[in-house]
Amino acid sequence: MRVFVTGASGWIGSATVDELLAAGHDVVGLARSDASAASIEAKGAVVHRGDLDALDVLRAGAQEADAVVHLANKHDWGNPAESARAERAAVETFVETLTGTGKPFLLASGVALLAEGRAATEADRSNARGPQAPRGGTENLALDAVPGLAAVSLRFAPTVHGVGDHGFIAAVTRAAQERGYAGYVGEGSNAWAAVHVSDAGKAVALALGQAPAGTALHVVAEQGVPTREVAEAIGRGLGLPVRSVAPDEAEAAFGWIAGFWGIDMRADSADTRRLLGWTPTGPTLLEDLAAGAYTS
Ligand SMILES: NC(=O)c1ccc[n+]([C@@H]2O[C@H](COP(=O)([O-])OP(=O)(O)OC[C@H]3O[C@@H](n4cnc5c(N)ncnc54)[C@H](OP(=O)(O)O)[C@@H]3O)[C@@H](O)[C@H]2O)c1
Repeated sequence: MRVFVTGASGWIGSATVDELLAAGHDVVGLARSDASAASIEAKGAVVHRGDLDALDVLRAGAQEADAVVHLANKHDWGNPAESARAERAAVETFVETLTGTGKPFLLASGVALLAEGRAATEADRSNARGPQAPRGGTENLALDAVPGLAAVSLRFAPTVHGVGDHGFIAAVTRAAQERGYAGYVGEGSNAWAAVHVSDAGKAVALALGQAPAGTALHVVAEQGVPTREVAEAIGRGLGLPVRSVAPDEAEAAFGWIAGFWGIDMRADSADTRRLLGWTPTGPTLLEDLAAGAYTS
């Protein structure tokens, strides 16, 4: 299959491209810069040059492919509305282009705000609808277009961890370095689902052949690691004290990541494992932290 991957140069995208190539697919990766193009080419994939905002570029990439895996995101944490706007426009373009073609459309999403007081399951439906919603409401935009569109949502754990990660756990670690202590919010009993980046790449590649249209997959290896245990591991790694931060002081203590660090994002992946025949084998989040993945 010829697979158009946006975000092919990114953290999850790089692991995904490796797995898609290993599975025998031809991969075409979106690249907005020379550096991104070089990293995609070095893997043996073909470059499709352009920006996420260039909707004609996205349209052409989708038309020329047999399937689309959409992982690009601006991740402008200082301006989340702009990230959501761009994400919405990109997904609208893919929905328009791919509807009626039967071509698989896999798009990135997350497990936040799906369930309260328990681990979210694949059966939980997101309330995020419309352009103003988190991520521009794109999961529902795509899944609502089924059966005309062969859409599958890839709900990644809030930490897709490993050496080289620049995501949420890297941000929490940076906050600890800057403030001189590793913190958690309140009692730190809120927990985050987690998956190693190598397992995430494998799940995406498996999903391409095996997930029926309309499925929401949980790319999750660990259901929930308490944030207090994560903070303790970061503190050990950095040789810093560990302490609780009151919820109303969290923003000052953690910056933009506070809104995520204080909430519970547990998720179950039993249905996904069964459907894909996927068994995560990578290190756990605490193993990665103990090995210095974020602190050395
Ligand atoms: N990592 C996680 O823990 C996690 C958790 C839940 C959900 N997700 C979602 O999963 C997806 C992949 O995440 P990730 O961690 O792999 O992200 P990432 O490492 O930040 O990679 C983002 C990708 O998007 C590309 N991109 C950004 N702005 C672009 C633009 N204007 N035009 C073209 N390409 C652009 C980047 O290209 P450059 O290489 O040129 O910068 C990069 O390839 C995202 O939708 C993310 O929100 C991730």
